[in-house]
Amino acid sequence: MSGPEIRRVGVVGLGAMGAGIAQLAIEAGYETVGREVSGELGAKARDRIAHFLQRKVDKEQMSADEREAALASLFLTTELADFADCDLVIEAIVEDLQAKLELFAALEGIVRPDAILATNTSALSVTEISAAVSTPERVIGMHFFNPAPLMPLVEIVRAELSTDETVEAAFAVGARLGKRPIRCHDTPGFVVNRVLIPLLNDCIRILDEARVTPQDLDTAMTAGAGWPMGPCALVDLVGIDVHVHASEALYEKLREPRMAPPPRIVAMKHAGLLGRKSGRGFFTYD
Ligand code: 3HC
Repeated sequence: MSGPEIRRVGVVGLGAMGAGIAQLAIEAGYETVGREVSGELGAKARDRIAHFLQRKVDKEQMSADEREAALASLFLTTELADFADCDLVIEAIVEDLQAKLELFAALEGIVRPDAILATNTSALSVTEISAAVSTPERVIGMHFFNPAPLMPLVEIVRAELSTDETVEAAFAVGARLGKRPIRCHDTPGFVVNRVLIPLLNDCIRILDEARVTPQDLDTAMTAGAGWPMGPCALVDLVGIDVHVHASEALYEKLREPRMAPPPRIVAMKHAGLLGRKSGRGFFTYD
């Protein structure tokens, strides 16, 4: 299968990750269709993108005209049918396998047979998601990192049946989005999360073992190990719920004790302390 030229990109789900991916797409000059479940959530995502682009204008990293042109190329919708003309659709919805399977099955009935279907999943299997469609050759993982507009990496994750054309087309899009793409296979956690999730879980366990405060642990890892951001601030940024889910998904697959989410962070999730998005996690936010 030789893929189409990618001109029009769809993004399903405009939360922190999806909005970041849509921002990258419009900045790279793609006509972009962004879908949220309500007009209100779509408008919130557009406001977020408009804000970050305005900061770029303020800092003379882009002109006001470029900002306007980028925002004008973002088409918001609540209808999956509006992805019909997309050459690539990137899914960034909730990390729930059933929800993703249903979405991919629905998308297959809407997009052209040669359109590429990508998932931004952090810890689910791209191959399992690809089983939702009758043409799994065109399914691929495009795993961006939080915050997507700032983090340079995108993992291009080859599922069992992805074709070379699909892999290379997704890689080329990653590069055009200004990222540093890498190719890898669909193993639990891919590359970064396979390493980062157990490491962050170790950090959280050390809070209790060494009786250190989150602030001091973050100082330790930034000032002593050169991390750009401390582990507690990072888990707050990623989302406590997202981190717990990724840990559970990897533990289920690998059965390595370090993958299991520490009880402390599971309790935080149940208490609604989700990090930045809820205003409180290890730290509090305005
Ligand atoms: N979206 C778009 N633009 C953003 C943004 C966002 N979410 N956040 C910040 N910006 C823009 C802002 O306009 C900001 O400028 P302003 O303050 O003048 O308005 C500009 O970017 C720079 O922001 P910062 O000053 O905060 O940037 P820093 O230089 O401090 O870097 C960082 C921020 C890149 C987040 C850095 O702290 C870092 O590298 N942290 C580590 C992040 C990390 O490890 N992420 C990976 C998480 S794991 C993951 O995602 C995997 C998943 O599967 C769970």
